[in-house]
Amino acid sequence: MKKVLSEQALEQFFENGFVRTGIILPENLIDLIRTEYGDQPGSRSNWNYFARSAEKRRRLKGVSDRIRAALGNLRSRRADAEVQSHLYEKALYGSSGVLYAVLDQCLKSGLVESLDEIPLLVGHDILLQGSKYHMSFGFHDDGFGWDIFFQTGDDVSIYIPLQSLDESSGGRLCVEKRPGDSSIFQERNEYIVRFADFCRIHAGSDSYGRVTRLAAEQCSRSDLIDEEYQRLSDWIVSRRESQQGQVQMNPIDAGRGEVILFNNKMFHDVEPWRLAENRSVYIVRCSPLYEMGLAPPSSFLNDVECNRYLIEPSHASFRAVRPEKEDLPFVPVPS
Ligand SMILES: [Fe+2]
Repeated sequence: MKKVLSEQALEQFFENGFVRTGIILPENLIDLIRTEYGDQPGSRSNWNYFARSAEKRRRLKGVSDRIRAALGNLRSRRADAEVQSHLYEKALYGSSGVLYAVLDQCLKSGLVESLDEIPLLVGHDILLQGSKYHMSFGFHDDGFGWDIFFQTGDDVSIYIPLQSLDESSGGRLCVEKRPGDSSIFQERNEYIVRFADFCRIHAGSDSYGRVTRLAAEQCSRSDLIDEEYQRLSDWIVSRRESQQGQVQMNPIDAGRGEVILFNNKMFHDVEPWRLAENRSVYIVRCSPLYEMGLAPPSSFLNDVECNRYLIEPSHASFRAVRPEKEDLPFVPVPS
């Protein structure tokens, strides 16, 4: 996280596992977020596409494969619907209509004071909403997701609860209290680079020499990539299982609209929510622009837009980008 977070922010991160930026979104912007997502039915939730990842789509080579995949999709849709009735009521991933306004407000309110010099690619935004009868994703770290093809171990999530969260309300985000002591802190970038290298050896690259998701899906050695990806996923699951209950977690009290930063590659969890009204949180997930050897795609999760903006802390600004059409100012992965 060095050169990603400012000195003071880095100190907070190592002390508490998260960063208070001191920014509170104004009420009109909170209303705007609520309106944007309020108009969308829960049935539009797309988190379940992670389960039916693009990595699996590449197997559809013949007619029988397609039929088998369609049946599998149907089964997994039923399973998703069942899980979804217990999990968040809404879990919407993409590049929503409020993303620009939120970034603009955060930068005008001094977000760069918490950042250092490395540009951050704004991957996507997320709305998670549920009642006290819904569950959250539980204790986990966000490992390498095939759909979120470009990511790093130092990812920064801009976390904004749309109501206050404290001990009495429950629903607080819990993060690893001491990232410096974390068993996964040192290896977070390594496993992504290892996987990216594996893909690069076997798959085609774009005009900038970075492997694309499509090339990895369609190359003649895609079975090997599939096996490697599976190995990585299994390892991440077994690590999570071995760490559950062993990690000291820090619940975050936060005001309505308060802007918090945390790293989603570290373990995190959410307390049970106790109030009658829905709990809603808005998240913007960003990745430092490390040269991982991976090309950021412009869409994910069944073709919703992603990776559309770049925060440039040294200019205290952000701009629209088209990662598949332009080369971005990547920086070396820290060793
Ligand atoms: Fe997560």
